[in-house]
Amino acid sequence: MFLFTVAVFALCLGVTHASYSQLDWSDCGSDPRVSITKIDVSPMPIVLPGPIHLTLQVKADLSISDIQIHMDVKRHTFLLDLPIPCLFHVGSCTYENSCPGLPLLDTMVAEDWAGIMAGLGGQIRTMLTTVPGLNTTACPVPPATINIQQYTLNLPPVPSILSFFAEGDYKAHVTATDKSTGQQLICLKLALTIKEKEEPCTGIFCG
Ligand SMILES: *[C@@H]1O[C@H](CO)[C@@H](O)[C@H](O)[C@H]1NC(C)=O
Repeated sequence: MFLFTVAVFALCLGVTHASYSQLDWSDCGSDPRVSITKIDVSPMPIVLPGPIHLTLQVKADLSISDIQIHMDVKRHTFLLDLPIPCLFHVGSCTYENSCPGLPLLDTMVAEDWAGIMAGLGGQIRTMLTTVPGLNTTACPVPPATINIQQYTLNLPPVPSILSFFAEGDYKAHVTATDKSTGQQLICLKLALTIKEKEEPCTGIFCG
């Protein structure tokens, strides 16, 4: 019985175990004209729902017109890296943004992807308008230096339709490509841990 309890406990712990205490990121081949010097998210693990503080230092020495963003997300488990599908525009998805403006964020807000992304899309739009020298209404968007320090974004809770995104460790491969030339502008590898504030252990043995 004791062993069984320990096993169940370990199972729950395995789910809630936090691997990353800071965002693990690397540049996997961004265009030389795009230099990403810092990305940080605190707290790490990210707690959902809750605020995060985002730091982003990027210098783009090129104009940007229509881009395609692709995300490849995997959940790291003790057995394997489980690919996360694209569900309700969240997960391993491809997004398009054509200038002028930020129609991608406008759509995210208007359609409220997964019932949670309207708030986040609006916050990101506001964040980008606070960046000096970044003119997102110009087309193409001229070269800019983005220096965001500890910007607070309030992240929503994970809705049940995205239960794939339970707490755990995630690895993401993010690329942004110029749609007209097909040239890769940004390539990032990210690894992070997500925790949920409520019901940290949702397995059938944990209730
Ligand atoms: C941004 O670009 C638009 C379109 O080119 C232009 O009309 C506007 O004046 C620019 N804004 C700033 C702050 O430079």
